[in-house]
Amino acid sequence: MRTWSESLRGRSLLTLLDITNAEMRELLELSIALKARRRSGLRGDLLHRRHIALVFEKSSTRTRTAASVAIHDEGGTAEYLSSQDIHLGAKESVADTARVLGRVFDGILFRGYAQQTVEGLARWAGVPVWNGLTDSFHPTQVLADLMTVQECFGRLAGVRLAYVGDGRNNVANTLMLGCAKAGLHYVNCTPAELMPDPALVATAQALAQETGGSVRVEHDPVAGVQGANVLYTDVWVSMGEEAQKETRLRLLRPYQVNMELCRATGNLGGELIFLHCLPAFHDHQTAMTQACGALEVADDVFEAPFSRVFDQAENRMHTMKALFVSALSTPPAR
Ligand code: CP
Ligand code: NVA
Repeated sequence: MRTWSESLRGRSLLTLLDITNAEMRELLELSIALKARRRSGLRGDLLHRRHIALVFEKSSTRTRTAASVAIHDEGGTAEYLSSQDIHLGAKESVADTARVLGRVFDGILFRGYAQQTVEGLARWAGVPVWNGLTDSFHPTQVLADLMTVQECFGRLAGVRLAYVGDGRNNVANTLMLGCAKAGLHYVNCTPAELMPDPALVATAQALAQETGGSVRVEHDPVAGVQGANVLYTDVWVSMGEEAQKETRLRLLRPYQVNMELCRATGNLGGELIFLHCLPAFHDHQTAMTQACGALEVADDVFEAPFSRVFDQAENRMHTMKALFVSALSTPPAR
């Protein structure tokens, strides 16, 4: 079994800024090794008798199931605690909840609204806390995204990724940091109204300077995607922002990822993949798309051979497993 460095032991992950570029690479390599091991039919005991709380304020298909199976695969247990199940935020503070869960569990995966909540849990729990999505960041998602890019191209540095859509949401923020840390060329194609925080852009640009990557924001999607190897989009209305629906649809209609935009990369039929963190509004099978049609991605792109969204979804499991194992398990001797 591949080993990993002691430096990740006991560590939380609240944003990708919490780990070094080398640690991020190491997590991705461990994820790839764990995926190969699982594919070979082996299930291990790297999380034997480790107990992880899944504290979720928002709904989830991938993060919840991928985390739960990753933990059980390696002999641990996962306890799903939604806002209906525990007192957090209603009768009990973040600090008290964290101190209780930290006495009972070996780690906490949190999904919810405020970044402050996951930071508070990490401050008080005394065990590692991982961010499974907040309004601001989605770091476990971007580990899976980078793993998928690595699998598709055999490299990360130098790959050109264009994110198209809501430029200031949790996924866009995290992708910008992850790409910068891994040396990708990242373009955020978004309208002026949905620009990412300039301070975060400056942080990502500084990181990119160290890795040979680059980070820029572009309003014209056709110009922004030119030369892209990866087209990435996310929903136009994130969880908790439902009141913004009409404005977002108006602002983002010109940013739909469709075949015309794929052609504008100049790489259709060559080195081009499509990624989406999911869930995606691409067909007519949800209430939203029945009313409005496909939104952020056209159905033929979503279903195209170069769409890797289900590899990406599977990789959520391998990357979270790597994160939990490296934080909670003693590395085998080198
Ligand atoms: N991509 C992602 O986080 O999916 P879920 O909301 O289903 O967890
Ligand atoms: N930006 C989306 C991501 C879902 C995985 C949301 O927050 O709803």
